Amino acid sequence: ADPDPLQDFCVADLKASASLNGFPCKLAAEVTSGDFFFDGLSKEGNTTIFGSAVTPANVLAFPGVNTLGISMNRVDFAPGGLNPPHSHPRASESGIVIKGKLLVGFFTTNNVFYSKVLSAGEMFVIPRGLIHFQQNVGEGKALAFTAFNSHLPGAVIVPTTLFASTPSVPNQVLTKTFQVDDDLISTIKSKFGS
Ligand code: GLV
Ligand code: MN
Repeated sequence: ADPDPLQDFCVADLKASASLNGFPCKLAAEVTSGDFFFDGLSKEGNTTIFGSAVTPANVLAFPGVNTLGISMNRVDFAPGGLNPPHSHPRASESGIVIKGKLLVGFFTTNNVFYSKVLSAGEMFVIPRGLIHFQQNVGEGKALAFTAFNSHLPGAVIVPTTLFASTPSVPNQVLTKTFQVDDDLISTIKSKFGS
């Protein structure tokens, strides 16, 4: 989904002000082998309240992918862990399960739900912008790697967008949205510390 590169590479200079559609390039003389390798996905992430941990290898973590139109994530799952419903406004996603059993699903713009339980070695795709999730439905931990056709796919995470935004969404919007009372909305907000 990103524009095509106009040069071999453009390692991001993250210290420069982000005034471009992407990041300005590091000076060629300062580029080293180290800019094109990344060990940040080698370690298990610390799972959140959802029982999952997304470790990104996007342009902000791995500046070597700047302008290349690609990036990856590592996603770790505790037993029962959920990578909650979210969408990527700037990329389609592909993924491969490395360990465990994952229920993977996405929703079309017509509310059609596609899903399957995947085991190690099996892949999935999520069309750009569509809401999707993965849940560990196996016995132990689970692990997946995902790949994107953007150096910064972005993630709109449904629960935190609605219940943990800054500033907070007025309760009257959420009571009307979900057809429930104010107490329930406040309870849900409190789970996210807001
Ligand atoms: C999984 O959905 C991911 O965004 O890495
Ligand atoms: Mn995703």
